[in-house]
Amino acid sequence: MQEHILIIGNGGREYAMGLALSQDKRVQKLYFAPGNGATTRLGVNLLAKTPQEIVDSIQKLGITLVIIGPEAPLSEGLSDFLRAHHIRVFGPSKQAAQLESSKAFMKDFVAKIQVPTARYIQSDDRHLIESFIDTLTPPIVVKADGLCAGKGVIIAQSHQEAKETAYKMLEGESFGDAGKRVVIEEFLEGYELSVFAVCDGEDFVMLSACQDHKRLLSGDKGPNTGGMGAYTPTPLCDENLMQKIKTRIISPTLKALKEQGMPFEGVLFGGIMVVEKNGEKEPYLLEYNVRFGDPECEVLMPLLQTPLLDVVTATLDRTIKNLTLKMSENYAVAVVVASKDYPYRSSAPALIRIDDFDTTLGHLVFAGVGNDEKGNLLANGGRVLLAVGIASSIKQARDNAYKILQNVEFEGMQFRDDIAFRAL
Ligand code: AMP
Ligand code: GLY
Repeated sequence: MQEHILIIGNGGREYAMGLALSQDKRVQKLYFAPGNGATTRLGVNLLAKTPQEIVDSIQKLGITLVIIGPEAPLSEGLSDFLRAHHIRVFGPSKQAAQLESSKAFMKDFVAKIQVPTARYIQSDDRHLIESFIDTLTPPIVVKADGLCAGKGVIIAQSHQEAKETAYKMLEGESFGDAGKRVVIEEFLEGYELSVFAVCDGEDFVMLSACQDHKRLLSGDKGPNTGGMGAYTPTPLCDENLMQKIKTRIISPTLKALKEQGMPFEGVLFGGIMVVEKNGEKEPYLLEYNVRFGDPECEVLMPLLQTPLLDVVTATLDRTIKNLTLKMSENYAVAVVVASKDYPYRSSAPALIRIDDFDTTLGHLVFAGVGNDEKGNLLANGGRVLLAVGIASSIKQARDNAYKILQNVEFEGMQFRDDIAFRAL
């Protein structure tokens, strides 16, 4: 079958999926909604915004498959709306997307089925929250219930700070309605992994484990961001640990979702804290996301040897069980280049200059970019682009990514110089 595929979203994640699909002979045409200033190199950007406009475009253009990249349209029910119009769509239902759109829902859900996770309460009651905070030893984790673009988690250093942070959320001062219910958690000490299960409602396949770098500055300093770089596979996740993640976290979650009438179809992304206990590595679930990570998707896509289209199709056909997922023996390291004032405020658009580089080193992925009137690329978003280095070792892949970046320039560009440091 020749596919005409629409990718919803505008970031590096969506560009990376588009790049992978553009190399597949079965993909006749790619569309993006809204896409960015570089996805036009891979396909056509659509103006459709509302779910109805998206359906109209799909019907008019003969689009055969839709892939939803970001969490917002999933939590708003776009996949249900498209399915109701008999459109093939890769992405979980609104109900299942609550695993990401409500931290309170997620914590209650996994606690009930005994998935290992930090001790917590979720509440909108000041007194309950206060008394739980008093039982914890700082640092104390305070989370706004709803979607906050990765900014809704505060690590408080004292009981007082935790309480004040929670009050501000409850009063709607810090995160509006998203903070009117909060989750208070014990702080877990360890290192983080991102794991990805592609699920067909019943069965799943795991992709290789990734590590993201959430802080802005090298050495894990500065504020949290959407992610400043990632690499995969990581030696910090061995077979044994991956087995624990599958049996203790992913499997019971999928089983319970199915039993409760909300089977999960799409990418289930586990944010895992690995805690050392008696010399053993034990995985705890910090959060679920219901989509590929960004920038994790950018390192997973180039290592997929099983075509992305086959993975997506097996999900829709509920045949994941029969899919043998092959990934390359190589490593991928992605370094995010952000604009000058990221993540504090938006920066003035800046012209991007890219010199030719040796494409055996890897490639560029474009995220927050637009075009000037002459069609030149402009940096106009927070995370602007990524250099993805590919090689047979992490060190070489990382060197390759930084070599690619020597050929990229725009005013105010900033990036970390230590991506993958934990593995080296
Ligand atoms: P989340 O959005 O829930 O993943 O939280 C964002 C970041 O906050 C995580 O990537 C962790 O670095 C940190 N974090 C969240 N929950 C905890 C916890 N219980 N203990 C330690 N760090 C946490
Ligand atoms: N890289 C973390 C995220 O996509 O939420």
